[in-house]
Amino acid sequence: MKALVLSGGAGTRLRPITHTSAKQLVPVANKPVLFYGLEAIAAAGIREVGIIVGDTAEEIRAAVGDGSRFGLEVTYLPQAAPLGLAHAVLIARDFLGEDDFAMYLGDNFVVGGITDLVREFRATRPDARILLTKVPDPRAFGVAELDLEGRVVRLEEKPAAPRSDLALVGVYLFSPAIHQAVRAISPSPRGELEITDALQWLIDHRRTVTSTIVSGYWKDTGNVADMLEVNRSVLELLPPSNEGTVDAATEIIGRVSIGAGATVRGSRIVGPVVIGAGSTVANSYIGPSTSIAEDCRITDSEIEYSIVLSGSSVHGVGRVEASLIGRNVEITPAPPIPAAHRLVLGDHSKVQISS
Ligand code: G1P
Repeated sequence: MKALVLSGGAGTRLRPITHTSAKQLVPVANKPVLFYGLEAIAAAGIREVGIIVGDTAEEIRAAVGDGSRFGLEVTYLPQAAPLGLAHAVLIARDFLGEDDFAMYLGDNFVVGGITDLVREFRATRPDARILLTKVPDPRAFGVAELDLEGRVVRLEEKPAAPRSDLALVGVYLFSPAIHQAVRAISPSPRGELEITDALQWLIDHRRTVTSTIVSGYWKDTGNVADMLEVNRSVLELLPPSNEGTVDAATEIIGRVSIGAGATVRGSRIVGPVVIGAGSTVANSYIGPSTSIAEDCRITDSEIEYSIVLSGSSVHGVGRVEASLIGRNVEITPAPPIPAAHRLVLGDHSKVQISS
């Protein structure tokens, strides 16, 4: 069995922090979301991985390399334009050969990995197995309709009027039957060859498409609240460690991981918290569910339930909560508000002054 990991997409609907980098490299608890997928693939016993890359190919290659540190053998497969998930399968034909494969979207996060799923697929060998999860707004996803026995009867890509709340999670298991399906379909209204349509083609041609409903799923849809929440849930499992320097005036409580070369002075850190390599925290409070990335400087401040990306500094700003702070950001106090107002107001003026 092989894996096909998709890390091409342009990320057009994403929040500002991904304008300058690949969406698959958005960090969750200081680790790119793509790495969790690669680790899940390795844990499921798969070794050969093809990674589909597009405009951000260099960034992805620099981050993943030859895959050996994940125990994987990575082959990069360039996609000239983001023409759809089924198009990715088309261009990976030679790499995939006649093997079964797991297709994994690099910007998806599946809590608990894919080991059980792969085992089940190998034991039952359907033509395809999909993962589904209940979402509040299915219109941003492929949506599945199941019959009373739980069989997949219909799939629709981003329907305006969804027939269920079951969204397609970006992990699919395929037998080589999918190759015929991706060749048979035509581009969707958004101009892409949709894997959803290829799956529907399999269903229409009486092939077996089975499903598993999962909980604990996250996708980078630009929703900051969701991102803070997935960061929180991953931090809960983080093993505490200290490869940095912590002075005697600092109090560390709970699960805290401090990276190599990081310095913490005169601060109170209440886990779960991760502080990345080379960062400095001084005279500050870092509260639960916070990820501080590499080479940050946090001084005279309080941060809780937040994500701070690499190279950023937060200085003397009091309390920051439920925030997502991008790379190389500087946060400093505003000049003080004047203590007195000097006014020259005409007759009958009405003025509101915040005090
Ligand atoms: C793709 C699939 C969609 C699936 C989603 C999961 O959407 O087309 O069916 O629900 O991935 O991440 P896209 O990211 O291309 O909009």
